[in-house]
Amino acid sequence: MEADVYTRVKFSVKHTLKIDLENYKDEQMKRRLDSWLARSKVDTWQEYFSMLSTDAIELERFRNYLTINVTEFFRDQPRWDSLCQDILPYLIKNAAENRSFGGLKFWSAGCSIGTEAYSLALMMAEAAPSQKYDLLATDLHRGALLKARAGGPYSEGDLRNLSVTQRKKYISSVTPFFVSETLKKNIRFEEQDLLAAPFEKDFDLIVCRNVVIYFTAEAKDKLYAKFYAALRPGGVLFVGGTEIISGAAKYGYQNFGISFYRKSLGN
Ligand SMILES: C[S@@+](CC[C@H](N)C(=O)[O-])C[C@H]1O[C@@H](n2cnc3c(N)ncnc32)[C@H](O)[C@@H]1O
Repeated sequence: MEADVYTRVKFSVKHTLKIDLENYKDEQMKRRLDSWLARSKVDTWQEYFSMLSTDAIELERFRNYLTINVTEFFRDQPRWDSLCQDILPYLIKNAAENRSFGGLKFWSAGCSIGTEAYSLALMMAEAAPSQKYDLLATDLHRGALLKARAGGPYSEGDLRNLSVTQRKKYISSVTPFFVSETLKKNIRFEEQDLLAAPFEKDFDLIVCRNVVIYFTAEAKDKLYAKFYAALRPGGVLFVGGTEIISGAAKYGYQNFGISFYRKSLGN
């Protein structure tokens, strides 16, 4: 894609979808856009955007494509096992030792259709049923959030990492598959652009997985610094299976096992 065409596409995407492609890696995004246009029914971006102005379904498809909201329950299961067996007991102990109120505060940042937030809720229901917690789950994709708030419907594929017992206990038994009310009760779903909005504070755990892969180095840099400020002392950031924060120490993070970074206890 020519640079001037990309500039115009970025402008139109910002105008129609409120997504700022300046924060996404150029070459990958151009390739993705080229292949999207090639698969569409029109030949130029001008025609495509004029079609979007009257076609709400296509607009949603395009938004889904740009934000890449692929997800499932307990994505990269071994990392969730570490979260449950190592990190959660540490967070509970840290909260009990350092605060009068021992409730935990979690955030699923870039939660897509809610599978990540419900995985956290399910983990809490099984591993720490009496532990109080509050869970914020955010995404910039309104359609994904609608599904997240409704607790489904989820596909067999979304649910494939759940055991038979978990399916019986927490998911409706016939299609359409929805999560049970038990998993919903501590979650607040909110619309938010991670690259624009101010963040809440005092999180014990921030889960931000498979969201930053297409962000520029500058966008990631800002985000990791903002996450650091949003964590409590001793709080933990949980990233995706293929993500590594390069120079984590410059933000203040300590490596805390594969995919986990901890804020120091001192500040
Ligand atoms: C691939 S999904 C990951 C979902 C989930 N975290 C997981 O790992 O299964 C990426 C999500 O990030 C969201 N996203 C992308 N850019 C974002 C931004 N700037 N602010 C908030 N969410 C964003 C997308 O809408 C999408 O739902």
